[in-house]
Amino acid sequence: MKVVVARTLPAAGLDKLQARFDVQSGGLPFDREWLLEHAPGASAIVADPTVAVDGALLDLAGDSLKVVSNFAVGFDNIDTGAVRARGLRATNTPDVLTNATAELAVGLLLAAGRRVAETDAIVRRGEWGGWEPEQFLGRELSGATVGLVGFGRIGRRVAALLRGFGPRLVFSTVHPKGEAAAEHGAERMELHDLLAVSDYVSLHVNLTPQTTHLIDAAALARCKPGAILVNTCRGAVVDTAALVDALRRGPLAGAGLDVYENEPAVPEELVALPNTVLVPHIGSATRATRDAMAELCADNVIAVLDGHEPLTPIV
Ligand code: 8YV
Repeated sequence: MKVVVARTLPAAGLDKLQARFDVQSGGLPFDREWLLEHAPGASAIVADPTVAVDGALLDLAGDSLKVVSNFAVGFDNIDTGAVRARGLRATNTPDVLTNATAELAVGLLLAAGRRVAETDAIVRRGEWGGWEPEQFLGRELSGATVGLVGFGRIGRRVAALLRGFGPRLVFSTVHPKGEAAAEHGAERMELHDLLAVSDYVSLHVNLTPQTTHLIDAAALARCKPGAILVNTCRGAVVDTAALVDALRRGPLAGAGLDVYENEPAVPEELVALPNTVLVPHIGSATRATRDAMAELCADNVIAVLDGHEPLTPIV
């Protein structure tokens, strides 16, 4: 059976697939033409958030295709309706990347709140003139209100990691999560109320039509003066133009961003702002986590092609 890996996969997953199947990898950088050429006759396609999986690609693969395995927890790149309509399966890699992504979110909350990137740049440029009593003041997590937008696996892990800092935790979600709220001592609120009370806001939702530009100009206008926004989920959850405006004119004091609307493009306006911490989609980028993701991604392919239920299905 042929397994087409749209780009590449860490050896922890690739080796497993190669032991069982004829694996063809497109390599880096991603070449859509290569994928379209190699899709016909594939039993499985391994994709990731940079690879759009639509009906046309599925049809090109043809009747041999059984499963699309995404090397990511997010699956906004997959047309799940098209997968379902063709009676195929699609899978993702939840759980194994929860902690790595949550730790990065905490890192960005701290970095943006304490102006780490801005002041690092000042030191590197040789512009630091010496210590001053009220220079480069930031804010602490301790005693602050932290609003978690989305309270699934990653949002709850952020809450657990933050407990030691002693913030007040609030969250918003479209699903009722009463039990988890009690567990993490977090209070559920409507999004607009959360934004109005939070000193820090961290985003942890899936990208769906409902969450696209969830954080728009109106939402940003509700934020507390001096608030910090952190995004480790998907860039399109935030309206970038409105974010730039809120960082220039307030109410935001800073932002920590791991994801962008049109990756890998990072808007010049965000780069030019001193109060942004910008990292290149590294939420799950640790050796252990990427290996675990690759293994799970491969195990999902193997399960489906062996005629079993996938381990972590989305369709
Ligand atoms: C990376 C992610 O996109 O899992 C996700 O949804 O965004 C990140 O983990 C992924 O590692 C790339 O394959």
